[in-house]
Amino acid sequence: MQMTVTVYAVGGGQMAEAILRAALKKEVIDPSSTTVTDIAEQRVEYLREKYGFDTQAELDKKKLTTADIILLGIRPQDNWKETIAQIGATQTKAQVISIIAGVTLAQLQKASESKLALTRIIPNTLTDTGYGYSGAALGGEADRELVTPFLESFGKVDFIPEEQIDIYTGYAVCGPNYVYNFYIALTNAGVLSGLSRKQANAVALENLKGAAEFLELTGKHAYELLDINNSAGGVGIAAQHAIDASDFAAGIQNAVLAAVKRTTELGKKDE
Ligand SMILES: NC(=O)c1ccc[n+]([C@@H]2O[C@H](COP(=O)([O-])OP(=O)(O)OC[C@H]3O[C@@H](n4cnc5c(N)ncnc54)[C@H](OP(=O)(O)O)[C@@H]3O)[C@@H](O)[C@H]2O)c1
Repeated sequence: MQMTVTVYAVGGGQMAEAILRAALKKEVIDPSSTTVTDIAEQRVEYLREKYGFDTQAELDKKKLTTADIILLGIRPQDNWKETIAQIGATQTKAQVISIIAGVTLAQLQKASESKLALTRIIPNTLTDTGYGYSGAALGGEADRELVTPFLESFGKVDFIPEEQIDIYTGYAVCGPNYVYNFYIALTNAGVLSGLSRKQANAVALENLKGAAEFLELTGKHAYELLDINNSAGGVGIAAQHAIDASDFAAGIQNAVLAAVKRTTELGKKDE
């Protein structure tokens, strides 16, 4: 049986809940040794009733000190400076993982007024599936081995330099959005061609899953798989010609660049 980690979540909002739910499912955390503090009373009650977490209306200094991991799940517009200062004052040796968008490791360290073991992450939003990459930037005092089991309990993790966090947000974490858009476009194409909505949806989903699995299974680049599918003068190459003549690729690339740009803009507002 694997060892569980003791987690203290400061802020029990949507993202913290999704992370804890996945960690529970993977049995990396245990409800009775997981503490959540949220300033919203209703949230605290909901999390206690639904998951059996130990919930505290105010920060519990002793539990912050004994936790293996402190998950900072509040938002950039919340009073994160005051919160991190309170955590810093406990002199905790816990690994502190921040999901506060746009707030840098240097800003967190400065506001903590102490040497916390900080990791800044941008969590993926496919936590319930086990798929999806979170980007994690380790601070100087952080311990990669200690944070990895927890980070891997809600998907895959890519340890990246902090400068890549915005790119990761726009490309990887917003990634499912691009796929949903592609899925919608494809299913509409099926309906346009004469299939029922139900047929079109089912076929597109199966092709999405199958193509992803085939890419992984073969280890081939998608260009090579297209080459196999597109025979001389055939059906596939006719579709390929139409795709190549459209702004399909540029549309997706522009969407990613817009997401990265917006992430950077939002981060600058909070400096
Ligand atoms: N949701 C996503 O899909 C997603 C994805 C990636 C990253 N993120 C990032 O994750 C962070 C959290 O987002 P979220 O969507 O989970 O937001 P959220 O649902 O609004 O959660 C934040 C929670 O923290 C509480 N809170 C605020 N200040 C607090 C304090 N000092 N002590 C304890 N609790 C406090 C809030 O209470 P009140 O509501 O009463 O203020 C709220 O319940 C953000 O930086 C966000 O950008 C979110």
